[in-house]
Amino acid sequence: MASSVNFYVISVILCMLMFFHGYANGTVPAMYVFGDSLADVGNNDYLPLSVLKANFLPNGIDYNGGQATGRFSNGKNSADLLAEKLGLATSPPYLNITSDTNKTEAFISGVSFASGGAGVLDSTNKGQCLTFPNQVDSFSTVHQTLVDALGSDAAMSHLSKSIFCFIIGSNDILDYTRELIKPTPQDFVNSLVSNLQVQLQRLHSLGARKLVFVGTGPIGCCPSQRTQNSTNCNEQANQLSALYNKGASNLLHKMKSNHTDFNYSFLDASSALLQYLKILQNTDLMWLRPHAVDMEI
Ligand SMILES: *[C@@H]1O[C@H](CO)[C@@H](O)[C@H](O)[C@H]1NC(C)=O
Ligand SMILES: *[C@@H]1O[C@H](CO)[C@@H](O)[C@H](O)[C@H]1NC(C)=O
Ligand SMILES: *[C@@H]1O[C@H](CO)[C@@H](O)[C@H](O)[C@H]1NC(C)=O
Ligand SMILES: *[C@@H]1O[C@H](CO)[C@@H](O)[C@H](O)[C@H]1NC(C)=O
Ligand SMILES: *[C@@H]1O[C@H](CO)[C@@H](O)[C@H](O)[C@H]1NC(C)=O
Repeated sequence: MASSVNFYVISVILCMLMFFHGYANGTVPAMYVFGDSLADVGNNDYLPLSVLKANFLPNGIDYNGGQATGRFSNGKNSADLLAEKLGLATSPPYLNITSDTNKTEAFISGVSFASGGAGVLDSTNKGQCLTFPNQVDSFSTVHQTLVDALGSDAAMSHLSKSIFCFIIGSNDILDYTRELIKPTPQDFVNSLVSNLQVQLQRLHSLGARKLVFVGTGPIGCCPSQRTQNSTNCNEQANQLSALYNKGASNLLHKMKSNHTDFNYSFLDASSALLQYLKILQNTDLMWLRPHAVDMEI
């Protein structure tokens, strides 16, 4: 379950910042975040049985106060930086919103369901995280709360202006690379995409209209994967990631042609980061290449 993704986290953040450049401050009322450790802002701290936690140093050393916050990161993570770009506060962890919080107020400003270890598949790290289907279940509770408080039209109007952000898929791919008996890469990716479709369609019917989807990075270049290839990255994991990105982006494209009231942005983090790695290989910035640091997903 432990995976080495520090370089990967940083690079995904860099890509996303460039990617989000076009959004003006103040036009988005809220962000609802779904995903894994690349976006978790503390949900796993509220899962007593989970070992997938980042509630210890050096996580958080560069964050406000230098304390671990449940982020799988030394400082701000992708969810924080995206929120900043949109002029919003980071959406708080869903599991920290308890009965003494005004739920309408909390939910209307955005919530994060992202949970370290989660994958597209319900089986990925089940019992250790909020699985992706669990995250969507929780959003349906949020949706119902907003409908009850504001009425259906106002709730749907609010949600249609909000950003729904997804950073999910890496953990499914990491699990696949560890399996001994497994489907072909294409069959595996097809099953990921069809599971993704079910959840994205549920979210569409619950009011999601503006999606930001961050595809998986070159997972085969994570330190744990590089140990499997003396010379370079694990090609199989990189190819899976590329296939998944292709599948996810095709799915979004089809959803857009099915629904006139639907927009999305897709970032192919694999292509973007591989290009970046290639540039590094051809320069003397070798110290920037991924090798040293380890971190849990
Ligand atoms: C969790 O909720 C408490 C009480 O509302 C609040 O003080 C704290 O900042 C919250 N933590 C996070 C990580 O959002
Ligand atoms: C919760 O917040 C909403 C929106 O700000 C407000 O209308 C409502 O009265 C609040 N409910 C309680 C119980 O304070
Ligand atoms: C190992 O890296 C080399 C060089 O990039 C690549 O050609 C080869 O396919 C990789 N092998 C595996 C098993 O990933
Ligand atoms: C698009 O609509 C068709 C016809 O209703 C449906 O079969 C298909 O699953 C939909 N695809 C997506 C990605 O929404
Ligand atoms: C989708 O994008 C188009 C073109 O930018 C815009 O006119 C439309 O309002 C957007 N719809 C939603 C639901 O965001």
